[in-house]
Amino acid sequence: MNYRIAPSILSADFARLGEEIRDVVAAGADIIHFDVMDNHYVPNLTIGPMVCEAIRPHTSAPIDVHLMVKPVDALAAMFAKAGADIITFHPEASEHVDRTLGLIRDAGCKAGLVFNPATSLSYLDHVMDKVDMILIMSVNPGFGGQSFIPEALNKIRAARERIDAYTARTGREIWLEVDGGVKVDNIREIAEAGADTFVAGSAIYGKPDYKAVIDAMRAELAK
Ligand code: DX5
Ligand code: ZN
Repeated sequence: MNYRIAPSILSADFARLGEEIRDVVAAGADIIHFDVMDNHYVPNLTIGPMVCEAIRPHTSAPIDVHLMVKPVDALAAMFAKAGADIITFHPEASEHVDRTLGLIRDAGCKAGLVFNPATSLSYLDHVMDKVDMILIMSVNPGFGGQSFIPEALNKIRAARERIDAYTARTGREIWLEVDGGVKVDNIREIAEAGADTFVAGSAIYGKPDYKAVIDAMRAELAK
């Protein structure tokens, strides 16, 4: 299994964002996870396309934009222009999920759907051909530093079954990302449930030595 570690810059020092991104990539990160909150879909407010554009020259690592916004379409298009590589959104925040997936892919990005703890995977039923990544939330979205909700493991297993059946039929790969409360001490269990891409905010940026945390995560994944 090809595992990817995606530090969430939500827990980075925003006053030194470019440096924080370079440091985490130098420490072994594969992807930069970029949390967009609008104080409407979620009760918090973060960063927009201008910040994505500003950090783009600081790394060649893929930027994984997690849109926690409603409505979705206009911002998705702006993030594609601002240099995002992957754009995910919450299906219940879009009036037309198929259209939103299509517009993200037409803009040259990978597209993904995000599932809150209480959101059904049935949103995937008719759109798998347009999905490049499935993101399972293991906390309720809005804040870093929350505890992993154990029921998410069953959701990850169910998503893995859907992906494997789809890939067996079509040969096309879909990534399975997990976001919220991912730490060194639970990453292996999450991988065993079927995840291949791991968002970690406070676990990495909350420690002084990013490389030590990422190395420890990879050691757990290699067990
Ligand atoms: C939560 C965000 C997460 C957050 C994760 O709404 O989507 O990406 O940064 O933070 P940790 O890893 O601290 O739970
Ligand atoms: Zn996120």
